Amino acid sequence: MSATAHGFGARIVGTGSCVPQRVVTNDELAAKIDTSDEWIEQRTGIRERRICNLEHEGTFTMARDALGRALDAAGVKGSDLDLVIVGTVTGEMACPSVAARVSAAVGAAPAAAFDVNAACCGFVYSMTIADTMIRCGRAKTVGVIGADAMSSIVDWDDRRTCILFGDAAGAAILRRDDDPRYGCVYQALGGDGRQWQSLYIPRRPQEVPPADQDDTTKLGCLRMDGKAVFRFAVSKFREVMEDALTKTGLTNETIGQVICHQSNARIIEAAREKLGLEHDKVHINIDRFGNSSGGSVGLCLDELWRAGKIEKERPFMMVAFGGGLTWASGVWRA
Ligand code: ACO
Repeated sequence: MSATAHGFGARIVGTGSCVPQRVVTNDELAAKIDTSDEWIEQRTGIRERRICNLEHEGTFTMARDALGRALDAAGVKGSDLDLVIVGTVTGEMACPSVAARVSAAVGAAPAAAFDVNAACCGFVYSMTIADTMIRCGRAKTVGVIGADAMSSIVDWDDRRTCILFGDAAGAAILRRDDDPRYGCVYQALGGDGRQWQSLYIPRRPQEVPPADQDDTTKLGCLRMDGKAVFRFAVSKFREVMEDALTKTGLTNETIGQVICHQSNARIIEAAREKLGLEHDKVHINIDRFGNSSGGSVGLCLDELWRAGKIEKERPFMMVAFGGGLTWASGVWRA
């Protein structure tokens, strides 16, 4: 079947991921701050996380290696990419983008390259943009990465936040296909900047809301109102999943994997239960990796892809929420 410029599909042809080798357990954190393995596990489901050695690892190296693995898995050369997108909030430099450096490192230059700042939604937003660029005929082969070295922006003295996060990157290669049934078959991206103060990383003192200013405020470190984010996430997760199922006419039985941003096992479990989804349809790896923000959905996708759990032809869903506040869902056929 031949496609018009607006009638292409986008196939996922390979995935990859990268996490640092260094494992940090809850007990290790409890040796430094006033917390315990029991508290962290019960409230979040996290047992351990991976943390970069920031001397020689970070968002760029993880993004580069995740994309390299995705290219290998897809049998695609870096020079075949015409666009590289990285969803991240922890780029080492404000300029250039992580995507520009990654593109050069895998031999994709002069491909177009840019970062997307949508916090934990970074990967799902970026996949949607890539799919759209392919569908409208502007791009043929795209490298999409979600990557965050949260350890570089976490306040390690703040027990309310530091226990949650870890470092990771996940990547996918999307390639144009003549059949428009493949790729993102439904997407809903959203944002509500009125709630930005629930989760932010201030660089200047004047950005810190007066009510949030205290002796513990550290510029460059993540600040979070955990309870507000929790409330938002529990209702939003369910809402966007229900919306995606209704709009696509899919059901709990016909949808394949539902890949949730790994924010907190309790948040994911609440949404899973409300929707009546079976346990084995909702992947959980937060116990091993914590919340890696933009890295989390891509990391899950790679684990599932390599385990053969993303069934060809059967639609699967990706769903996330994060700073901004932002939210995103996408239903895909691989
Ligand atoms: N260890 C031990 N005790 C702690 C810790 C800790 N690490 N952190 C907080 N506590 C204490 C508090 O001081 C409080 O004590 P108090 O009752 O004496 O005042 C008590 O535990 C309860 O604290 P809460 O903040 O009420 O704990 P809660 O049950 O809300 O859990 C949590 C906190 C896990 C952060 C939860 O609110 C949450 O998961 N929120 C969502 C976070 C999230 O998903 N963020 C990611 C957003 S995505 C992005 O873009 C980065």
